[in-house]
Amino acid sequence: MDKLLIKGGRQLSGTVEISGAKNAALPLMASTILCKGETVLWNIPNLRDIETMSEVLANMGADISIEGGGLRINTDTLINKEAPYELVKTMRASVLTLGPMVARFGCAKVSLPGGCAIGARPINLHLMGLEKMGAEITLSQGYVVAKAKRLKGATIYCDISTVTGTENLMMAAALAKGRTVIENAAREPEVEDLANALIKMGANISGIGTTTIEIEGVDELRPIEYKIIPDRIETGTFISIAGITGSNILIKNCHYGHVLAIAEKLRETGIIISEEQGGIRVIGPTPGALHPTDVKTLPYPGFPTDMQAQFIALASLAAGTSIVKETIFENRYMHVAELRRMGANIEIEDNIATVRGVKRLLGAPVMATDLRASASLVVAALAAEGETLIDRIYHLDRGYEKIEDKISALGGNIQRIRQSGTV
Ligand code: EPZ
Repeated sequence: MDKLLIKGGRQLSGTVEISGAKNAALPLMASTILCKGETVLWNIPNLRDIETMSEVLANMGADISIEGGGLRINTDTLINKEAPYELVKTMRASVLTLGPMVARFGCAKVSLPGGCAIGARPINLHLMGLEKMGAEITLSQGYVVAKAKRLKGATIYCDISTVTGTENLMMAAALAKGRTVIENAAREPEVEDLANALIKMGANISGIGTTTIEIEGVDELRPIEYKIIPDRIETGTFISIAGITGSNILIKNCHYGHVLAIAEKLRETGIIISEEQGGIRVIGPTPGALHPTDVKTLPYPGFPTDMQAQFIALASLAAGTSIVKETIFENRYMHVAELRRMGANIEIEDNIATVRGVKRLLGAPVMATDLRASASLVVAALAAEGETLIDRIYHLDRGYEKIEDKISALGGNIQRIRQSGTV
């Protein structure tokens, strides 16, 4: 397994370009199942999860080709309506093929995603919504089997705001007969990006960006060309990197409006964040001058759970105590044990982290446990004294494109040690 070797303590400078959003790309790739012909998606990041979703679609018979930062996906040749366990277990977002397949073909067989490091992450709301739309859902040998002659519009109330649940149901409703209303819908920018793409495909959707989304089903959708939004979590991760290393960097190809909660919260730590040249200028305070502050993760537009681990790394070096409450997932503090190995002083009780800032973090061998935990270890390592060797960075490769190249270009001392031991 590849590792990352980081020598911390350097101040960074220069410009970093943000890649397309993983969590926008995945539902948009699944949405190509809804229409005949070739869809072209631009600004697609080169990530493991994108490769996995491509494998899921190719396994169904789709024709996929990569073209300079874009993907061409033709689902005319879809013959197999199944998303197999061996693929779904590596990426739970494969469940996003369920709604589109039932909507277009009237049947689908998708493996239940199984457990996940950060929480149980059930898909009961996805299935409840499809049942309300008339799908017959059965569970068989670890698979969800869904059948419907034609889905019909329904009013669906999600008692928890679910991002991929909203996306699955919105895609299913796009081809259903009649009107669907999704109440307590997720409002994340990635949900909005999918809705905008579906409208371009000919879908009839209103309430985008609100918690009530209405979809008037149509009989057919057409293939499109579409450029996906930039990754707001990668943007927040680089703001944290600049903040913890006392650096002055410019972040380009990002969307400031999608990171307002992140920017507001990180400003409270003393980081200067402003819009500049269509991007975001970030100036971190001198090391040791970070202020503590408190964070509660919430659905959008609140502070995103996907930035919680990176914030805890930053707060580990603040001059005081920060309280972090993770409200979305029940087990999303696995980065804490690794940060403690670097000298961080963090206590966890009832899903609340008390982060008492220390004067310095010390490089150490650490292990990535999930995607955003691995990002937090990179943030910490860049400010730690000495060398940090991060193992199992396949977690990081799921959601960050060329992160070592981007950090090196900013002057960071980081290198990938490949499984074969070569640098
Ligand atoms: C999406 O996951 C993101 N993934 C996650 O990003 C992100 O952390 C999460 O939304 C929250 O923002 C993608 O978009 C591919 P949820 P998702 O359904 O849709 C519960 C990353 O790091 N729930 O919004 O799976 C669930 O257990 C990843 O990029 C149910 O109970 O998350 C959780 O507690 C990690 N039943 C809460 O809702 C359901 O049917 C929010 O989950 C669905 C969800």
